[in-house]
Amino acid sequence: MRNSLFIFIVLAVTVLFISCQPGRDQANGGAAPGEVSEEIIDSLIDLMTLDEKLGLITASSSFTSGGVPRLGIPELVFSDGPHGVRHEHGRGWYALEDADDEATYLPVGICLASTWNKDLGYRYGEVLGNEAKERGKDVLLGPGINIIRSPLNGRNFEYLSEDPYLTAMMGVGYVKGLQEQGVAACPKHYAANNQETDRHNIDAIVSKRALHEIYFPAFRSVVQDGGAWSIMGAYNKINGQYATHHEYLNNVVLKGKWGFDGVVVSDWGSVKDTREALLYGTDIEMGTELLRDFDNPEYDEFYMARPAKEMIERGEVDESYVDEKVRRVLRLMQRTTAMSDHGQGKRNVEEHQQFALEVAREGIVLLKNDGLLPLDKSEIKTLAVVGHNATRHFAGRGGSSQVRALYEITPLEGIRNLVGDDVEVLYAEGYEPYYDESLFRDVTGDAASQSTENIREVELARTANQALVQEAVALAETADAVIFVGGWIHGHEGMPWGEGTYDAEARDKLNLKLIFGQEELIRELNRVNDQTAIVLMGGSNVEMENWLPESRAYLHAWYPGMEGGTAIAEVLFGEVNPSGKLPMTFANSHEDYPSHSIGEFPGDGTVEYREEIFVGYRYFDTYDRPVKFPFGFGLSYTTFAFSDLELTKQNNKVIVECTVTNTGAREGAVVVQVYVHQKEPTFDRPIRELKGFEKVHLARGASATVSIELDESAFKQFHPEELRWMLEPGSYEIQVGTSSRDIKLAGSVDW
Ligand code: GLC
Repeated sequence: MRNSLFIFIVLAVTVLFISCQPGRDQANGGAAPGEVSEEIIDSLIDLMTLDEKLGLITASSSFTSGGVPRLGIPELVFSDGPHGVRHEHGRGWYALEDADDEATYLPVGICLASTWNKDLGYRYGEVLGNEAKERGKDVLLGPGINIIRSPLNGRNFEYLSEDPYLTAMMGVGYVKGLQEQGVAACPKHYAANNQETDRHNIDAIVSKRALHEIYFPAFRSVVQDGGAWSIMGAYNKINGQYATHHEYLNNVVLKGKWGFDGVVVSDWGSVKDTREALLYGTDIEMGTELLRDFDNPEYDEFYMARPAKEMIERGEVDESYVDEKVRRVLRLMQRTTAMSDHGQGKRNVEEHQQFALEVAREGIVLLKNDGLLPLDKSEIKTLAVVGHNATRHFAGRGGSSQVRALYEITPLEGIRNLVGDDVEVLYAEGYEPYYDESLFRDVTGDAASQSTENIREVELARTANQALVQEAVALAETADAVIFVGGWIHGHEGMPWGEGTYDAEARDKLNLKLIFGQEELIRELNRVNDQTAIVLMGGSNVEMENWLPESRAYLHAWYPGMEGGTAIAEVLFGEVNPSGKLPMTFANSHEDYPSHSIGEFPGDGTVEYREEIFVGYRYFDTYDRPVKFPFGFGLSYTTFAFSDLELTKQNNKVIVECTVTNTGAREGAVVVQVYVHQKEPTFDRPIRELKGFEKVHLARGASATVSIELDESAFKQFHPEELRWMLEPGSYEIQVGTSSRDIKLAGSVDW
């Protein structure tokens, strides 16, 4: 009797609250912003019909999932993307042309990771949270935290690293910064979504050990340390089951072992089976109409809509599975701006643009410099800037991560702004993206993202446009210095999805060869002017053997955001001392990478991760394979010395301390990297694994003591047979260095 009276009172209070609350927080029963009330969730579930529940767990438009107006429950509003709030689509699939949706375009994920600065990770999320909130979004679909397994993956730009620890550290800060603004992060794509080729169906065959040591850790960290309120399921299968409704990934690991109490959001069209989605952990189904009728979506046709209702009404699946999903969705709503007031947010403010510049300054990596850099503008009267990428805008490209940037400073603009009127800056395009009809070939379309079944992909040409080359060379011959800006083209904007999609979503690169004849052009520029600096942009490396030896300086700038041109100029002319470090190994050819030489890429129906845990430097260093530039590498305009390593074992942790000194002629920053090496492992193990890092800014001549704490998890490995984490007794070497192949100090500890 007492119980039912209590429930009645709770219901009455809730309904009363609903009826008198204004705005979007009416169904939250007035709980404090971000506070979860399970009681209110229970009472709302009790009030909801099955149709209302199913409406809440399926899309109601391109970027919203359903609400329950009768109960004052709003729709949930999603938006891409990982490095800026995407343009408005309205409720359909086409960009709205007249929307007020200009935004801050931050440097892409791999550029953020190249800073190796955890503080920037947090602030990156904070900026995005403010911009998302100001645009009325509840969930931001990022960060992208898939591991860079092959340099050919079209979306490497959107991810962070080949290393799970670096990915985790940068991802956790991003999630915290974003969610403290009341906007849910949605780290993606869980898991092993490491290619774009056939992404909707490819079956990644991955061992449990490789999943737990390489492909899971960043997801585990953003859940357990970052407190992510949602996670996005991946398109691909893993070991035979679709990742979005994967019993082991979702029920056993994510929601079981890791204790995830948030929402698993499908990728757009990644739900493929009603029963599995109901039973194996999918909480919201988005975008399925992409697989059916792109222009006439029938949301009732979604797998978790009418088909789910019929399955429940036939008694094949219990309604309690739906209730659990609704519970998680309502919990997410209570945490976010959907149901509680987290303030207004800010968009396109100068502090955000300055932050974009700060990330670009620290993310640009100086890979080669024989002393040519920094350039001295007082010694330059005429400067030639050559290359299509010097004037290309990248913000609107790349696929779903595109941003309608309020502005974008190109390298040419940044250089002109910096040198001012004292230097005559001349420009020549040098090469242009072009397509040769004869090079078109039909490939199976990525049906989820185009209206056509088959799209035609162009084998981007590599021959140079001689007229453009000659024009550029003539300019270079007369200049006091030359800056070449080239690299990948980041496809998409203004192009049908199939054409020129290099280095963008939905397509993988065919190889790492520089396109449109850039190699020949670089060689010619070096030949006629020995004051030539090379700047490349793109989400990964390119083949270098044919141009790097005779090049004096090379900067890799990734896609450095709306102030990228400013930062590139500041590094070239020494106003900024570069401190970026590679978050992925730069080898010469894609065939050098273990995903191609040992494993498969991109596979055919299935893709075997035969390289296991030997991804990136874990492979190159263990098997001593040649690379162009190692993981963690990046030059500075100053020098640093390392000394006084002290290892202190306390209970279940090891404190690693050392002194770093700036021994050069100017201020600069260095990343102290800590690797663990097990001396005599029972099971095959990488020769070293990154387990700690700190970025240190030092004035000229200054020193600092860096202290990095390793807990016992830093020494553990996932037992390949017993399928559990274990710490094997024995001796371990702690290596301190400035890249995976430049170890400065080492010492041992025993477990
Ligand atoms: C895309 C992407 C995903 C994105 C979603 C919504 O296919 O895989 O990262 O957030 O659809 O645009």
